[in-house]
Amino acid sequence: MKRTISGTTLVAGVAGSPVRHSLSPLIHNAWLEAAGIDGVYVTFRPDADRFDKFVDGLRGGAVRGVNVTLPFKEVALSIADEVSERADAAAAANLLLFETDGTVVADNTDGAGLIAAFAAQAKDFDIKAGPIAILGAGGAARGAAAALIAAGAPKVRIINRTLAKAEAVAGALGGAVEACPLSAAAGALAGVTAVINATSAGLSGEGTLDVPLELTPPEAVIMDMVYRPLITPFLAKAQGLGRPTVDGLEMLIRQAIPSFEAFFGRRPDETTDVRALAIAALEADA
Ligand code: ATR
Repeated sequence: MKRTISGTTLVAGVAGSPVRHSLSPLIHNAWLEAAGIDGVYVTFRPDADRFDKFVDGLRGGAVRGVNVTLPFKEVALSIADEVSERADAAAAANLLLFETDGTVVADNTDGAGLIAAFAAQAKDFDIKAGPIAILGAGGAARGAAAALIAAGAPKVRIINRTLAKAEAVAGALGGAVEACPLSAAAGALAGVTAVINATSAGLSGEGTLDVPLELTPPEAVIMDMVYRPLITPFLAKAQGLGRPTVDGLEMLIRQAIPSFEAFFGRRPDETTDVRALAIAALEADA
């Protein structure tokens, strides 16, 4: 269906810096088009230190809402008037909604996206079956840990190069989360049901990540939040070991589903193959 911009077009988008390579416009606009919704999803690149001014400009609902990506997820939470429980637990927001009365509401769908990605790509995985290891202790790791605990994981091990940061996350999330230095990863990977890479290693300039995945149980699911490339060296190593894997693109798509619903009032039609579109875009961008 061909879309036109009308006098009643709903506007939503994604705010980040950089943001021009974001796959979110591709995903949301494909869903809008498939559903024939009078809406459009665009990118915004606020000034790094003026995100508050950007949000002030949108208060009142001219724009229905924005997804928030790096580096604004923490500041987005701090300037919202209302914060969902899951955004509070993650200490970050990936979704801001602008109500017509001027209220700014923060939510976080990243954790739900992570769990839905496991359900989609690792069907035998049981979140409640045993400890889960997370590599990294930044915002992405904290959000993942909070969501896994809320979904019933009995134990989450935060493994990080800088132990103090892992301890801070564990301290914030309570007794089911424990901290472990990267140098002791071998012990921490024993008996896990899953390993999630939430470090920025592999992103430009952040070096590589070397963890002994061979010490995980054979059925342990290996997940990487990084999706450029789709099969990261970390996932390639896991596949070489015969481990089931979950990729970061699936998490991106799965966090977009509740975001779309919040913006446009209905769930996207999941028969639209946004994954194929996104993979084609990643390949064209490589
Ligand atoms: P985000 O908010 O996306 O989670 P972040 O807060 O910058 O990003 O966190 C990045 C994480 O990746 C940190 O835990 C960092 O480890 P340190 O706390 O020791 O800095 C981790 N990280 C980055 N590069 C890494 C590398 N080459 N090896 C191991 N960990 C790495």
